[in-house]
Amino acid sequence: MTTSTRRYHITTFGCQMNKADSERMAGILEDMGFEWSEDPNQASLILYNTCTIRDNAEQKVYSYLGRQAKRKHNQPDLTLVVAGCVAQQEGEYLLRRVPELDLVMGPQHANRLQDLLQQVFDGNQVVATEPVHIMEDITKPRRDSKVTAWVNVIYGCNERCTYCVVPGVRGVEQSRTPEAIKEEIEVIARQGYKEITLLGQNIDAYGRDLPGSTPEGRHKHTLTDLLYYIHDVPGIERIRFATSHPRYFTERLIRACAELPKVCEHFHVPFQSGDNKVLKRMSRGYTHEKYRRIIHTIRDYMPDAAISADAIVGFPGETEEQFENTLKLVADIGFDLLNTAAYSPRPGTPASVWDEQLSEEVKSERLQRLNHLVAIKAAERSQRYMGRIEEVLVEDQNSKDKTQVMGRTRGNRLTFFTGDINQLKGELLKVKITEVRAFSLTSEAVGVSQIMTV
Ligand code: SAH
Ligand code: SF4
Ligand code: F3S
Repeated sequence: MTTSTRRYHITTFGCQMNKADSERMAGILEDMGFEWSEDPNQASLILYNTCTIRDNAEQKVYSYLGRQAKRKHNQPDLTLVVAGCVAQQEGEYLLRRVPELDLVMGPQHANRLQDLLQQVFDGNQVVATEPVHIMEDITKPRRDSKVTAWVNVIYGCNERCTYCVVPGVRGVEQSRTPEAIKEEIEVIARQGYKEITLLGQNIDAYGRDLPGSTPEGRHKHTLTDLLYYIHDVPGIERIRFATSHPRYFTERLIRACAELPKVCEHFHVPFQSGDNKVLKRMSRGYTHEKYRRIIHTIRDYMPDAAISADAIVGFPGETEEQFENTLKLVADIGFDLLNTAAYSPRPGTPASVWDEQLSEEVKSERLQRLNHLVAIKAAERSQRYMGRIEEVLVEDQNSKDKTQVMGRTRGNRLTFFTGDINQLKGELLKVKITEVRAFSLTSEAVGVSQIMTV
């Protein structure tokens, strides 16, 4: 097969971190001469970037893999790669389960894809899951969007939430230097991107592993410092960041967000449970009172700020009363968006072997009750947008109605309005909100925002 006909396909599961890794791996493959194929069946290299946060995420991967493994029997030159968190968790075992695989590589190895593939093309079956220092990215990611871009600022997680696989699969915290981050943002800005999202599993931990940090935890480079440091890159109009951890969230950060015009008024601060006993058994390191104080402080500084979060129901031993404390927190705070999940026992995590596991029935019943409340609250939150003028950054066409474009408000609400994507993509526009739903808005354009003239 000649180089020019080599085509690749990547399917990405899981969180924004995985999406960012996939974009970098796609960049590496394109550097190597591969071309993107939307259809996996037309590709000679297929990469699954996998997620293992819950059992159903992991099982999905196996069903996809099974199909391609079969195909390999008729097409032996097909290269099959499993990257990401399932790869890290299962390692060698994946090769035994799916012997057709060529490469199993953990998330810390994403930037090494070219090296690893070279070993595959030399005739080896490769497993790369040992902890490594993450190489600074030297390739150009192939970003999915032309408007908004992810920027990793810290890899890994040093927390030990008792339900969570992430520290096990993503390894210890590794912050990138402020200089490397700014350089990447400057490149992104020159390419015409308008919005960046700084990424970390626990982004508030940013910088604590960088030289200059002190054992007491005082450090020169905090997320707040980073926001000030990168804020003025010309061309970037909006800055977001995720995921925040209530344990480390500071008022100084909130003040910076209020002060810095490009930082959007949207905060993703998972609380996981509204009950102090459950929070303690999750090892989250805060109480629901502290969580409420954080949100109040955010709203003191930015009354209109959008708040989103993650929550888990049915943690081992969670009583009906403790679950109701989660409902109470959700009712009191009024989230703009809440990602909810039934607790899923994960291999290697402490809570997975505790005795008091709840039945699937109880978990799914609680999940339904929570989701019902979330939708009501989100619809209430959406009401405040009605009739308002909002700034929207146009990202794409509305996939369900091609006469409309799709963008987001600064608060991250999806907004649709009539318009031609070829003209509007990447534009910051003022729109008037004409219809509100729980998780999205409809609007009409009222003119081009001032900011566009920059
Ligand atoms: N670092 C982030 C979350 C990363 S995982 C934080 O600390 O909040 C994304 C979400 O998946 C978590 O917020 C949690 O709500 C959910 N999650 C993680 N492990 C889970 C498990 N074992 N069962 C169900 N949901 C889980
Ligand atoms: Fe998992 Fe907790 Fe780390 Fe978030 S902070 S990734 S929930 S261990
Ligand atoms: Fe999943 Fe790994 Fe992200 S387990 S949620 S892809 S860090």
